[in-house]
Amino acid sequence: MNAGGKVLIIDDEIGPRESLRMIIKDRYAVKTAPNAVEGLKLLSDEEFSVILLDLRMPHMDGITALQEIKKICPDTEVLIVTAYASVDTARKAIQYGAFDYLMKPFDKNDVIKVVEKGMDKRSRTRELKKEHTELRELIDERTKELMITERMRKELFENANDGIIIMNADAVIMDLNQRACELLGYGKDELKGERISSFETGESRYLWKERVAKLLQGEQLLFETEHYTKSGSKVFIEISARAIEADGRKIIQSFHRDITEKKRLQAQLFHSQKMESIGTLAGGLAHDFNNILTAILGHTDMILATEELSEDTMKSLEVIESSARHASQVVAQLLSFARRGNNEFSPVHINGIIENTLSMVSKLVLPRILIRKNLDDALPAVAGNATQIGQVVMNLIINAKDAMPAGGEIEISTGVVDINPARMGTLQNVPEFREGKFVFLCIADTGPGIPEEHLPHIFEPFYTTKEKGKGTGLGLAASYGIAKNHGGEITVSSKEGFGTVFTLYIPVPE
Ligand SMILES: Nc1ncnc2c1ncn2[C@@H]1O[C@H](COP(=O)(O)OP(=O)(O)OP(=O)(O)O)[C@@H](O)[C@H]1O
Ligand SMILES: [Mg+2]
Repeated sequence: MNAGGKVLIIDDEIGPRESLRMIIKDRYAVKTAPNAVEGLKLLSDEEFSVILLDLRMPHMDGITALQEIKKICPDTEVLIVTAYASVDTARKAIQYGAFDYLMKPFDKNDVIKVVEKGMDKRSRTRELKKEHTELRELIDERTKELMITERMRKELFENANDGIIIMNADAVIMDLNQRACELLGYGKDELKGERISSFETGESRYLWKERVAKLLQGEQLLFETEHYTKSGSKVFIEISARAIEADGRKIIQSFHRDITEKKRLQAQLFHSQKMESIGTLAGGLAHDFNNILTAILGHTDMILATEELSEDTMKSLEVIESSARHASQVVAQLLSFARRGNNEFSPVHINGIIENTLSMVSKLVLPRILIRKNLDDALPAVAGNATQIGQVVMNLIINAKDAMPAGGEIEISTGVVDINPARMGTLQNVPEFREGKFVFLCIADTGPGIPEEHLPHIFEPFYTTKEKGKGTGLGLAASYGIAKNHGGEITVSSKEGFGTVFTLYIPVPE
């Protein structure tokens, strides 16, 4: 019976070589070699499962032969055949990769058993090797897949348009993407470990406790908030957050979207709609009042023209007349705001209008106030109404003077500016600013500035901080209406303690 597998016997003595061959030839295909050199030669052409190797041979000793065999065919099992005298060397051979040794003289059954053992070992090793290779291939494949998934995840995470922040259950930042860093203006390492609430403005920093509690209960949240950036500016953020479970603990995943621009546009729209509706109301009112005042003034004049009036009546009539004239001025400002004034336009030179207005008001503002001019000589003419523009200059200079009762400086400058979309975001209070070329007229003062909370209201009619009887709150409203009437804008930039700058923009005709 041939059990399969090939055996090579290498022995220089014919006796043991042949007896071994006789013992195993019925079970396995057997070849023999009279020395190691011959045996090694055979190995280059044929594959043997087991080699029986004599330890002591001329030309090449058994240990060297064993090492050579293992180099050529590492899977072949080598069985050392030895006499009792070399049993130590045989043991050493095992360290070099032989699987067992056989002592001369042999017992037939021992030989068969040990050769079988070698055969078994070899087939197990082969199987193991095969499994190992398959496993390695599988691991390689999975690693590659994982690398691709990881790269994709990183790509999605890092290059997302929204900021993504991963927080622990205490709302402490664990990880975040590039966009989230940009939104806050910090580097990644500066943000890791920080509490998200520390970037909130105002009261909303105290809301995170409640938000986290809701998130951990499984609620998904969508809300708007405002964050401070590293530079101290504020950014409006829309946050969409939820808690997810990872490695048995809950973490918060939160998406942050910059909505500053959206908010700005909303505010602009709201502001211009509000001004529009107040304008309609004020315009209607002023129009009716104008008619009433015309009647009062007309009749007062008529009575004043008659001769037989007592002195007291005369005085009363004069008070009526001057009050009615004052009321007319208020109505005129209101009409300017409502853009119902005189709409006759002709080419006008802003520098000339400034000089004219200054000659009228200089007595009023001097001596405590220094007026500096920085007028652009090459200013193009614009289509406008000189009286209305003069009124704006007057209103702005008087406001600046009123803001500096103890004195200060007013700088008046003019120039031409190209408004492009990139600049629009930087201009404050600029609803619906059109693109194009504008002549600007800038009036800057060194007064106390306007508190931030007043800024959104100063162009509204009757908004005044001056005491009763001092201001009607119509100067800026009228200026606003006039700017609009000219297809232009009026903007303000002011910081408490740093003065105020008003700029009137009038489009340059193409
Ligand atoms: N240059 C300035 N510096 C500081 N605050 C200003 C300045 N200009 C305007 N303001 C503020 O804006 C408010 C509105 O100005 P506006 O000219 O419309 O009204 P007013 O000056 O109060 O009254 P009126 O102009 O009708 O006499 C002022 O009351 C003041 O609080
Ligand atoms: Mg005023």
